[in-house]
Amino acid sequence: MSLCQTVQTPALTYEQPLGLFINNEFVKGVEGKTFETINPHNEKPIVAVHEGAEEDVNIAVKAARSALNGEWKQVTPSERGRLLTRLADFLERDIETLAAIEALDNGKGVTMAKGDVTASAGCLRYYGGWADKIYGQTIDTDTNSLTYTRHEPVGVCGQIIPWNFPLLMFAWKIGPALATGNTIVMKTAEQTPLSGLYVAKLIKEAGFPPGVVNVISGFGRTAGAAIAAHMDIDKVAFTGSTLVGRQIMKSAADSNLKKVTLELGGKSPNIVLPDANLEEAIEWVNLGIFFNHGQCCCAGSRILVHEAVYEKFLELFKKRAEQNKVGDPFNTETFQGPQVSQIQYDRIMSYIKDGKGAGAKVVTGGDRHGSEGYYIQPTIFADVTEDMTIVKEEIFGPVCTVQKVRSEEEAIQVANDTNYGLAAAVHTTNINTAIRVSNAIKAGTVWVNNYNTLHYQMPFGGFKESGIGRELGSYALENYTEVKTVRVHLSQS
Ligand code: NAI
Ligand code: MG
Repeated sequence: MSLCQTVQTPALTYEQPLGLFINNEFVKGVEGKTFETINPHNEKPIVAVHEGAEEDVNIAVKAARSALNGEWKQVTPSERGRLLTRLADFLERDIETLAAIEALDNGKGVTMAKGDVTASAGCLRYYGGWADKIYGQTIDTDTNSLTYTRHEPVGVCGQIIPWNFPLLMFAWKIGPALATGNTIVMKTAEQTPLSGLYVAKLIKEAGFPPGVVNVISGFGRTAGAAIAAHMDIDKVAFTGSTLVGRQIMKSAADSNLKKVTLELGGKSPNIVLPDANLEEAIEWVNLGIFFNHGQCCCAGSRILVHEAVYEKFLELFKKRAEQNKVGDPFNTETFQGPQVSQIQYDRIMSYIKDGKGAGAKVVTGGDRHGSEGYYIQPTIFADVTEDMTIVKEEIFGPVCTVQKVRSEEEAIQVANDTNYGLAAAVHTTNINTAIRVSNAIKAGTVWVNNYNTLHYQMPFGGFKESGIGRELGSYALENYTEVKTVRVHLSQS
């Protein structure tokens, strides 16, 4: 099978790389296997890509190690920054192609996908700016010594990303790792390998030396597990399910105690209090759960509404959700496309069935949308109780629950009654209430009168079982540097 193929999308035709990207070359996997990636809009294969497994990971790690100790070490921090900003420029230059790839492979609306490209370029440029501004400290302890710290790269970083934001997660991961001088073995998600391979081509074009970024298409139990257990990978960064996050941490512990950062699931509360601007709150609540078809780790899936506005809220929210345009990702008006895969479709539909069976009220949706593709209607459940599975477990689809609360205190108590702690929101026009509730909620991000507004300057990550470490902002740099203390004794003669 070849290493490149012309792919036609409804928007444009482009050349799709298919190989594993190792040492700046596209190559076949050692085992010679390939796997197909599916278009979730019509359930048909798009192309087959080469599949990497343990042996390919080993080869990629060797390439990354030798770049780390060789050419990449000679590249100055300023030049690293220039490479990152150049890559950002190339993402923007190819925005139409990259957005079409995401719409085709993931199913997200092409207009949303363009937003992902812009945010990815912004993220890379932001970290490009950091590259030559990462300093240690000088520490005065006494007159006979000089002590200083160096922020050195951790080394070879394994990065495992999911399918919900294929390009954006790629950018979030490589930005801080490259700014701080590390090298990378990236494994993309098996459902969405295409944009990562396209960016690999741009990485070479931007001028990164061979071996600095290596991209493996492949499966979790083979390529992903090989990264987590590898003896010569110094750090692993993972975004995905809590279940797999635990396995990765175990593998890291059982192998070389590589550093671990995890960005996992959530069941984020979105609180609407009686003094909220209801129309505005509903816009954010709608975006909070239905953006990206509900496939967001920080989705506002548990909506907690004060009893004083509960009935009015339900009436307006139903109306608003029914206006969301569900359909073909290549229609520029589309807000919600198909779910990413048959597996995710089935998983979500089984949660919907479970919610109906448990006696929750379906306010709107609750069924398949159309007859082809993995489409699900925007679904609102109301009159739920805390013990219901749909209230407890991450659904990762266009499905939310609306719960009635009687007070601010109850809202906080219910909001925190979860093992997760990724995000939350409160809608109120009272600044005191806003800050009081924000302080009381155990979550990595709290939005006041908005939702899902991420920005590469703002740290993002989870309390509790939602993760370890922070991505984005200056905080992410800490995950990718080792601090070395150098103590110099000053000779008295
Ligand atoms: P997953 O956690 O299995 O997959 C995420 C990534 O991990 C993929 O690249 C996958 O190949 C890799 N992976 C899987 N098993 C692995 C292993 N044993 N060792 C190393 N890497 C491994 O998630 P999946 O099955 O795609 O989705 C299941 C659920 O996970 C979703 O319904 C959702 O609840 C959650 N999820 C959360 C995401 C987030 O953004 N936090 C993203 C994707 C899924
Ligand atoms: Mg796909």
